[in-house]
Amino acid sequence: MVFINYTICTLIFLVFASASTMSSLEEPLGLDKLPSMSTIDRLQRFSSGACRPIGDDMGMGICWIQGGRSSSSNTCKEYDEDARETFPWRRHRKDTSQNGSVNRRTMSTGPEKLVSGNFCDSHCSPGHEYRTKSSSNNIQHTTNKFLKDIPKFVKIVEVGPRDGLQNEKGMVPTFVKVELIHRLVSSGLPVVEATSFVSPTRVPQLSDAAEVMEAVRNLEGARLPVLTPNLKGFRAAVVAGAKEVAVFASASESFSKSNINCSIEECLDRYRAVTSAAKELAIPVRGYVSCVVGCPTEGSIPPSKVAYVAKELYEMGCFEISLGDTIGVATPGTVVPMLEAVMAVVPVDKLAVHFHDTYGQSLPNILVSLQMGISTIDSSVAGLGGCPYAKGASGNVATEDVVYMLHGLGIKTNVDLAKVMSAGNFISNHLGRPSGSKTSIAFNQLAADASKM
Ligand code: HMG
Ligand code: MG
Repeated sequence: MVFINYTICTLIFLVFASASTMSSLEEPLGLDKLPSMSTIDRLQRFSSGACRPIGDDMGMGICWIQGGRSSSSNTCKEYDEDARETFPWRRHRKDTSQNGSVNRRTMSTGPEKLVSGNFCDSHCSPGHEYRTKSSSNNIQHTTNKFLKDIPKFVKIVEVGPRDGLQNEKGMVPTFVKVELIHRLVSSGLPVVEATSFVSPTRVPQLSDAAEVMEAVRNLEGARLPVLTPNLKGFRAAVVAGAKEVAVFASASESFSKSNINCSIEECLDRYRAVTSAAKELAIPVRGYVSCVVGCPTEGSIPPSKVAYVAKELYEMGCFEISLGDTIGVATPGTVVPMLEAVMAVVPVDKLAVHFHDTYGQSLPNILVSLQMGISTIDSSVAGLGGCPYAKGASGNVATEDVVYMLHGLGIKTNVDLAKVMSAGNFISNHLGRPSGSKTSIAFNQLAADASKM
């Protein structure tokens, strides 16, 4: 029951967050476009008092991370009690403070240990980490009411080593890229986009593509696609050992020109050559469509243009089409009509979403995409990323945050959150800056606090 309240609060928060951001960015498209029920109906049901934010507890985390601060709220009190079941790591902290002799070993570990060692081994293992049997039942119940169309399993496509590192100012050494890929694969991620075979003049950060691919070509446990913008890149990728490739088109003429120096039609012709060469070698090709909601120079992009490019890529043989909000301006209000248009021409199980998180809208965008039946999500460890040809765009949504949300929704991913966080810490330490993942920051903070106790 209490978990339902929390889920409802989260949805209210996401709906309000997206609604409040929309107006300044683009024409509001209307929350009534959200699937399943009218927004007014939805908001009325949500605001029936089941979970009313009190004071500053709009940031729901305060309620359950520091339960005492919100204890005047029955809702939060209930939640606080339930959280002991739902969030075992919290109980772990409490146990520690109640009995100083217990868990000393864990308390003395550093942040990295806390994430990748004993703490997460026992508290963040898949299936146990944030849910117990009773809260799973609650999720099941919630699913019937509000999340009935979300998939039970989501494939996460990790794009950090490519989309993430292509945008770094400095060149990340090849051995660091290779180590990152190893760590991501060992976390259970089924697909890790490894690098790009593009012009080294245009993207010098990935000019070691052949070395990276040769170092990981025999790695087992995940598919390791690479970007190829033309036949030249495709052939180089195959020689280096790539067994899967991706082509990348755009729904915006001007972005197509600035990114790959050709029109949309020219690029589709190039990709027909790539997909036909790939077919002869039985190499699967993924297709990207960039700027599916907005373009840095053209502004809003009509859903019909996105649908056109997606359909062309699908019909030329791309097994999956990833819809990229390259500059991160999408909100659920713009994602829904875009997906509706694309789903009319490409089957939903062949679609993926790829959100950059410039305006912090990726998680609500993913949630609404799940509600519409999308079951493949692109993300980037530690929120790395951006496109060198889309100035001001921030990184992709962080893989850690996506895994945290999906597991919280009861969706399976086969990804070990602790191991992804460890990979995120590894690359963030190398880059000398904090992770872009809120989940990772929160766990690292917990670890730091525990080590001070
Ligand atoms: P071009 O500028 O049109 O020139 O390149 P070209 O085809 O006449 O070739 C120019 C030079 O590049 C020649 O070398 C070619 O041999 C070489 P030169 O004779 O001057 O020594 N060249 C290549 N070298 C290596 N690999 C190749 C290759 N092709 C040509 N494959 C090209 C066209 C597409 C190659 C260029 O514009 C390019 O590399 N662009 C890359 C853009 C890029 O990587 N952008 C980031 C990825 S897309 C993205 O991030 C969006 C996404 O994440 C989804 C989303 O967020 O929306 C996927
Ligand atoms: Mg991208």
